[in-house]
Amino acid sequence: MADPSHDAHPPDLGPGLRVSADGPVGSLVLNRPDKLNALSTDVLFGIEAAARWFDTQRGLKVVVLWGEGSSFSAGADVAGFVTDPGDGLTARDRADAGRRAADALEAMAAITVARIQGHCIGGGVVIASACDFRIAADDASFSIPEIDLGIPLAWGGIPRLIREIGAAATRDLVMTCRRFDPVEAREIGFVQRVVPEPDLDVAVEALVTQLAGKAALPLLSTKAHINATTSQMTGQGRGWMEADTLVTALHDEESREAANRYLQGLAER
Ligand code: COA
Repeated sequence: MADPSHDAHPPDLGPGLRVSADGPVGSLVLNRPDKLNALSTDVLFGIEAAARWFDTQRGLKVVVLWGEGSSFSAGADVAGFVTDPGDGLTARDRADAGRRAADALEAMAAITVARIQGHCIGGGVVIASACDFRIAADDASFSIPEIDLGIPLAWGGIPRLIREIGAAATRDLVMTCRRFDPVEAREIGFVQRVVPEPDLDVAVEALVTQLAGKAALPLLSTKAHINATTSQMTGQGRGWMEADTLVTALHDEESREAANRYLQGLAER
């Protein structure tokens, strides 16, 4: 008898994402390499839809999240900052899309592995922090420039970073907006492994094979147990205020001035 909860066909997520699942292993690919996989609202809604689809895949144990091209992700799509995307969404819906994507990724039953090369910035850091494993190439570069962009870090970034690296390191990285390299990322516990860039695929494959070889019940229930233990920090409740603060910042004069300086700096490079 057909299982009504099983959906064999990947959803149509548009050109910005690719999704697949084959037996115990799946992959979710950020597919805007010409924009360094900047996370547009469409892509964020797609990540949410993909996460739900993965949960319909029987036997799935591990999903690798990676970015096509030179970088994992340059974060939230700043183009939407400059011009109204004309997508018919409210500012609040747009502000909340990243939180929904990160929450959906984290809630997935399968273990998630973020494969990180090149730039991993802002919202890219948050999406990676919603994954269970992060493996970085030694060419990776991390930063969380939101405050310089005149907005608070949202999308559940603060609680997830505190969960993964502690409050002191979170303050340092989020408030200074400074870059940090993969070695520091490993030292503070943000990534579990750093490997030379040419070895990244082999390292990810080795981890995936190791995880996929485990019995599903104890493996996936361990993920659920860890999430249940930390759910007070990262649970749905905080999503209520985050998107509102983000929208408020878009109308705050001093924050807008910071945003304009930041975006002008980008344009003048
Ligand atoms: N949103 C939208 N587009 C982005 C982007 C972003 N966050 N990051 C990069 N891009 C686009 C660039 O506009 C450029 O597009 P174009 O070729 O049509 O002009 C393309 O991606 C390549 O980026 P470019 O800046 O030319 O690459 P670089 O190697 O010189 O610099 C970065 C790379 C990551 C240092 C630089 O792109 C950057 O600082 N991006 C913004 C990061 C950011 O502030 N993200 C927001 C975090 S919340």
